Amino acid sequence: MSNSIGLVILSAGQGVRLKMKVPKPLAPALGKCLVDFPITESFRFIEQNKLQGEISLVTGHMREDVEKYVNENYPSKPITYAFQEKQLGTAHALRCYFEQVSQASKFDYTAVLCADTPLIRASDLSQLYLYLQAQNLDGVAATFVDKNPKGYGRIVRGEKAFHIVEEKDASEEIRKITEVNSGLYILKTSFILKHLNNIDSKNKSGEFYLTDLFKDHFNVAPLLFENPETFIGVNTLRHLEDVERILTLEKTAQLRDEGVRFLQATSCYIDWEVTIGEGSIVQPNVMMTGKCKIGKGVTIGAGSILKNAVIEDGATIKPYTVIENGIIRAEAEIGPFARIRPDSDIGPKSKIGNFVETKKVKLDKGVKVSHLSYVGDAEVGEDSNLGCGFITCNYDGAKKHKTKIGKNCFIGSDSQMIAPIEIGDNCYVGSGSTINKSMPAGSFAIARARQDTKEGLAQRFIKKKE
Ligand code: UD1
Ligand code: CA
Repeated sequence: MSNSIGLVILSAGQGVRLKMKVPKPLAPALGKCLVDFPITESFRFIEQNKLQGEISLVTGHMREDVEKYVNENYPSKPITYAFQEKQLGTAHALRCYFEQVSQASKFDYTAVLCADTPLIRASDLSQLYLYLQAQNLDGVAATFVDKNPKGYGRIVRGEKAFHIVEEKDASEEIRKITEVNSGLYILKTSFILKHLNNIDSKNKSGEFYLTDLFKDHFNVAPLLFENPETFIGVNTLRHLEDVERILTLEKTAQLRDEGVRFLQATSCYIDWEVTIGEGSIVQPNVMMTGKCKIGKGVTIGAGSILKNAVIEDGATIKPYTVIENGIIRAEAEIGPFARIRPDSDIGPKSKIGNFVETKKVKLDKGVKVSHLSYVGDAEVGEDSNLGCGFITCNYDGAKKHKTKIGKNCFIGSDSQMIAPIEIGDNCYVGSGSTINKSMPAGSFAIARARQDTKEGLAQRFIKKKE
């Protein structure tokens, strides 16, 4: 039978120094919350090592919000909770876990993670776990070297044993030690159960330190990890920025491996869940948030901002385009300087040019809106052309109304359509028209004042400069 492990993510703290309204586990990073990372990586670790396991969270500060978020985002995964009403220390948090999660004491091993270290990956957990097994240890603590170890527990290695001294309790000499505790541990559950209740709070903070679990025991060891960045804990907004920068590098590296070319990856902000197909190019200063899904061979122009946008294969998004909750079909061309507002469906091979705004539209294949237009609450049929300065007058001050334009229509420049209105297929509207009556298929309409030209009269109107 395979080994079993309980993974517990300590998530009770408030995160005062982040100065955010949300509790620390729900602090945002690349469109996810901090707590998403240890949860996802824990599940991955269980799977990769073919373990039987369960994931639990110790919650406290704003627990309802944390648990609601987790339940909503992992509906099919069994996650259990323990409540720590007062944050009396990390050992106390673990005590709450064993007291409240019925399965907890039955697992062979227990891994302890923190909600605020989002850069730890399943591979790091595996490395720690395999070391514990290979050495047949009772417990291992992941450590790293930080030239500026301020705030961390220091690793004091003795002849046989080692212990962890929290900064507050450390002497000048110990404070100089640069090997520090990451807060990630894997231990035999039986070892924890034997010693957890012996931990006291006789220290400068008056807290129950989980790190005391390693004190005076020979069969435990620190495992030094090479990359200190892995263990960055988010305590301040500065840490959050560092974490997002590193996550961005990780995200863009992954996309690059999948065949996406970045002209300047470090200038882009791309949410963790965004997908981009092979052969696509992302120019500098692009922001893609939410569930953007970018197809193959797409170009995303410099300075473009996309939120929950679906861009199909071969489409071109020219610079400084803003798209929110829209779908751009294959080989369409959008921008530069276009604004695609929610519920826009831009058909294949369509063309939306500069200073065009769309909202709640369905444009069929090959529709052209090339310059300076507003198209809202509208449907436009295949291959119709809306000239420069076209406007759907969709709003009467109280309600929105719909404009329907058929196939193969030519709508002259500077025309307005006062909705509700319906234009049949193959219609032609003369430039500068204000159309307020529906048109049957094949009809022509012109609705502008007739021109009156008086020969020689210009002289009367031209002012002479003094
Ligand atoms: C802890 C370690 C320290 C290590 C550092 C790494 C202890 C005593 N110290 O210190 O050696 O270098 O992490 O970042 O463990 N939490 C609870 N309930 C509590 C207290 C904390 O759930 O009562 C949670 C926090 O929400 C957080 C995690 O445990 O996710 C770590 O707690 P924190 O207060 O940040 O510990 P550090 O002082 O950073
Ligand atoms: Ca911390």
